[in-house]
Amino acid sequence: MMNKDWCWWKHGVIYQVYPRSFYDSNGDGIGDIRGIIHKLDYIHSLGVDAIWLSPINTSPMYDFGYDIVDYRGIDPLFGTLKDFENLVEEAHERNIRIIMDMVLNHTSHLHSWFIESRMSRNNSKRDWYIWRDGKKDNPPNNWKSAFGGSAWEYDQKTGQYYLHSFLKEQPDVNWRNEELQSAMFNEMRYWLDKGVDGFRLDVVNWFVKDKHFRNNPPSLRPHQFLKIRYDRNRGSSHRIFRELRTMLDTYDDRMAVGEVFTMPPGDPKLSASYLGNGEDELHLAFDFSLMYRWWNASQVYKCIRNWYAQVPDKGWPCNVLSNHDQPRSISRFGGGPGAEKRASVAAVLLLTLHGTCFIYYGEEIGMKNVKIRRKDIVDPLGKKYWPLFGGRDPARTPMQWSDEPNAGFSNGKVWLPVSADFQRINVNTQDNDRYSILNVYRELISLRRKKNPLHKGMWKPRIKGKRGVLAYSRIYNDEEIFIVLNFTGKRKKISIHHHGQWKVIFSTHKFRNAHFVNLHMELAPHEATIVEKIGDL
Ligand code: NOJ
Repeated sequence: MMNKDWCWWKHGVIYQVYPRSFYDSNGDGIGDIRGIIHKLDYIHSLGVDAIWLSPINTSPMYDFGYDIVDYRGIDPLFGTLKDFENLVEEAHERNIRIIMDMVLNHTSHLHSWFIESRMSRNNSKRDWYIWRDGKKDNPPNNWKSAFGGSAWEYDQKTGQYYLHSFLKEQPDVNWRNEELQSAMFNEMRYWLDKGVDGFRLDVVNWFVKDKHFRNNPPSLRPHQFLKIRYDRNRGSSHRIFRELRTMLDTYDDRMAVGEVFTMPPGDPKLSASYLGNGEDELHLAFDFSLMYRWWNASQVYKCIRNWYAQVPDKGWPCNVLSNHDQPRSISRFGGGPGAEKRASVAAVLLLTLHGTCFIYYGEEIGMKNVKIRRKDIVDPLGKKYWPLFGGRDPARTPMQWSDEPNAGFSNGKVWLPVSADFQRINVNTQDNDRYSILNVYRELISLRRKKNPLHKGMWKPRIKGKRGVLAYSRIYNDEEIFIVLNFTGKRKKISIHHHGQWKVIFSTHKFRNAHFVNLHMELAPHEATIVEKIGDL
């Protein structure tokens, strides 16, 4: 039985599924909802509490679903509404919640709202999007699209420009317009009424733009450029999230996690600002700092410390190592020899930190970034910037289920190449190997659930990355668990004067149940060990 102060979105673990790449049930080479249902027992076997589904709504797919044409529709590529309802039902039966991706900063240019909006200057939906006059023959200001070029597109018919922070096929909506806001809230209510448990909200920090459309400062002053951007991060967006929270709170136990998209090195203060006072805005917010870090114990330490320092007292942090927009963590942490060992250490880190954990599909078996040939690139960013930047496809390749053709993902022509290492790195093989990364994830998730300090205890640093070792305690009342991570390929000795008797409850190297007096240990290269205090001396 669950203890009574278990709260699924706080204490649980959330698994991100990128539906196109998870499992193809109908042989068209693209993953779908029935495919996810087919693999629910696998997801259940991980012990996770919820699935975040990247967008499955109707979309022309210019940005692979992040351009929605009908918020209430399911794209036929992924299945039908019935399939989705089955998914929710089947997941709930297994005690797994469903979080939908809501892309509310922009719609597709083919959304009926935009089609109306662009019809005439006095159309009733004109102000649902952001239209401005140009300056002579130039766009209204210097704002740039995150995907390159001006953020403004001239529209011949009405002689004005519309704003698109991403592709020109993704016009930004106008959150200052109350009708638009209430229409968006209704789209969310539609899914909440269908039993969806929460939302991952795309780019929440871009919703509201400067009222005066001031130019961004010139990029000659990079620091200022990053901090002062009039096209995003406006204070007035917080009103929207307070109202959203009020709306969500009219339902039982629902949540919202916001993507606060920032450039490297991340911006914990900004991310935390979307939590409001900790109880009145978003339930969780992603901070990208850890996702922008390499394999360096002191940097990782600093970024965790800074993130926790910003989260309001009543708020709750969440942690994530990778997602569908970023390189896979195992590759970012160095790839090559030792990659799998580092991935296990990273798993221990993620699953013993304070805050909700998000796992990106495939991370649990150590899937790597896949090199995509020019002709196979499908991501619009990759197409545009190759060879400077190959885009996001390398982290979106099909899930590696087995050593069968196409890694058991599909029996059709796959939409993105399968990794060449699938015969070695796949779920089937790892299932049967006690020491695989997959089983490390399973064991850690189960331990995290069982042990109070791991899912709700405070975090206290003990070794702050010195000589490549990170160590911390998780403490809940008089229970204490100590975690030590050796980020290096060398043996390390640690000696902490923290009295007591300790027992190993997880380790990549040491025997379970081994006892220690105080915290004097010798660590093997890439060792991650968790010990529990079992008594005072
Ligand atoms: C962030 C999403 O995660 C990314 O995939 C998308 O391209 C942009 N937002 C635009 O929606």
